[in-house]
Amino acid sequence: MSGFRVASVGRVGEDRRFNPNPVMMDEVKMALELYNDGTHHCLLFQNLVTGEAVQANQVIILDQGQAALLDPGGEMTFGPLRRALSAYLEPEGLDYVLASHQDPDIISSLDLWLTETSCKIVIPAVWERFIPHFTHAGRLEDRVISVPDQGLILSLGDGELSLLPAHFLHAEGNFSFYDPTSRILFSGDIGANFPHSVLPQPVSTLAEILPVMAPFHHRYMASGKVCRYWAEMVRELEVETLVPQHGRYLQGRQVVDEFLDWLAGLECGIDLVGPNLYRLPRLEA
Ligand SMILES: [Fe+2]
Ligand SMILES: [Fe+2]
Repeated sequence: MSGFRVASVGRVGEDRRFNPNPVMMDEVKMALELYNDGTHHCLLFQNLVTGEAVQANQVIILDQGQAALLDPGGEMTFGPLRRALSAYLEPEGLDYVLASHQDPDIISSLDLWLTETSCKIVIPAVWERFIPHFTHAGRLEDRVISVPDQGLILSLGDGELSLLPAHFLHAEGNFSFYDPTSRILFSGDIGANFPHSVLPQPVSTLAEILPVMAPFHHRYMASGKVCRYWAEMVRELEVETLVPQHGRYLQGRQVVDEFLDWLAGLECGIDLVGPNLYRLPRLEA
């Protein structure tokens, strides 16, 4: 990963409260603990979105008193995530909100996180001038870490997170988040699957989710070329678990490899588009 810029909001102050054994409030109980070695925690929320909105996962990563929130979503997920964080940290104590891209299911709660915490917003450089539309003039001043196209390593407590290029999968500026401590890859929309009911069980073979995963990738991912680039990059990492932003997560090297093989051979997006999609619409008879 040499050549990556390293960013940090600074080490934790001595006086900062961090409780590694949180009060088991409902929000913490609701989360799935993906990893916990006593100092590094990864919490997954799968059931905070209700109604007609598309199901979306949210993740909190904590390490030695620092906290990062990945793709927090919209207003409906803000309250429970905020309360879960408060079980570990002081009320305003959130260091980063990481947004893989600019979509509403990713970062439309931006204004709430800016006003209720002292977090920095970590966002692809490509979207830096677009996300102010989610907040008020001036509120992002000194609060943005802009991620260049080649990615970034972000320090978090005693650990770090790698922000891996995932451009055009699907957004033009997009990153996946790799946590080397837990060996979890938070892949954003890549690997997204849409089961008819969200099941907490992880996936151990790709066949379990392929019917509810493939159609999304055919339409939303830009092309097979970028799928291959991403899959080859990810093969260099030790990934034990792959957690997409939607649906069930993939547990174990075997299913992760199965997924990377599938993705590397995928035809999608502009590979599949023909002139039939670009006909002038006609009035229904
Ligand atoms: Fe998206
Ligand atoms: Fe999404």
